[in-house]
Amino acid sequence: MQKVVNFTRMEDGTKEEFEYLDKLEEGFNEGLPDRLLKLLDGLKESFSGYRITRYEHCLQSATRAYRNGEDEDMIVAALFHDIGDELAPYTHGEMVGAILKPFVSEKAAWIVKHHGAFQQYYMAHLTEEEKHARDHFKDSPYYEDCIYFCENYDQNCFDPNYECLPVEFFEPMVHRVFKRTPSFV
Ligand SMILES: [Fe+2]
Ligand SMILES: [Fe+2]
Repeated sequence: MQKVVNFTRMEDGTKEEFEYLDKLEEGFNEGLPDRLLKLLDGLKESFSGYRITRYEHCLQSATRAYRNGEDEDMIVAALFHDIGDELAPYTHGEMVGAILKPFVSEKAAWIVKHHGAFQQYYMAHLTEEEKHARDHFKDSPYYEDCIYFCENYDQNCFDPNYECLPVEFFEPMVHRVFKRTPSFV
C-alpha cells in the first residue's frame, strides 16, 4: 500500500511529509493533459439544439486556428476554450482561463477567460448593452485579439460541413504545452 502521511491537521505535518506529498502531486499533475482531453471528449454529449456538438465546435475552433497559422498556445486554447461549459455554465471562460494560465501566453489565457462576454456581440436576442459587453475591456491590450478570436475561431465554428482535423492531431501539442514549467505570475 502506498505510504500516507501521519498528520490529520496540516499544521502538524513535517517538512519531509510535505516534500513527499509534493512529489506525489507532481506525478499526478502529469496526467493533466489527459484529464483535459477526457473532459473535451465528454462534450460529445453536451448541449442540444446547435447543428454540431460542443466537441465538434471545439475541434472546429482549434482546426481553424491551426490553419490560420496561430501558435500552439492559441491552438490549444481554442481546443479547450469551452470545456468549462458543463461545470461552470455562467463562468466557463474564467474556469478554462485559470486552467490554461500557468502554461500558455498571457494573451491566450486572457482571450479564453473573457471570450464569453465578447461572444455576446453575436447573439441576436440580447439587448444592445449586453451585445456590447466587450466594450468594458476596451483598455485591455488583448481587446482586439479577443474580437479576432471570437470572429474567426468561435462564433463561426458551428458549421457541420467544415472539415475538422481529428483530436489526435492536436494531442501532441496539448502534451507539449502542458509539459512546460508552470508560471504562477
Ligand atoms: Fe465559450
Ligand atoms: Fe465556443
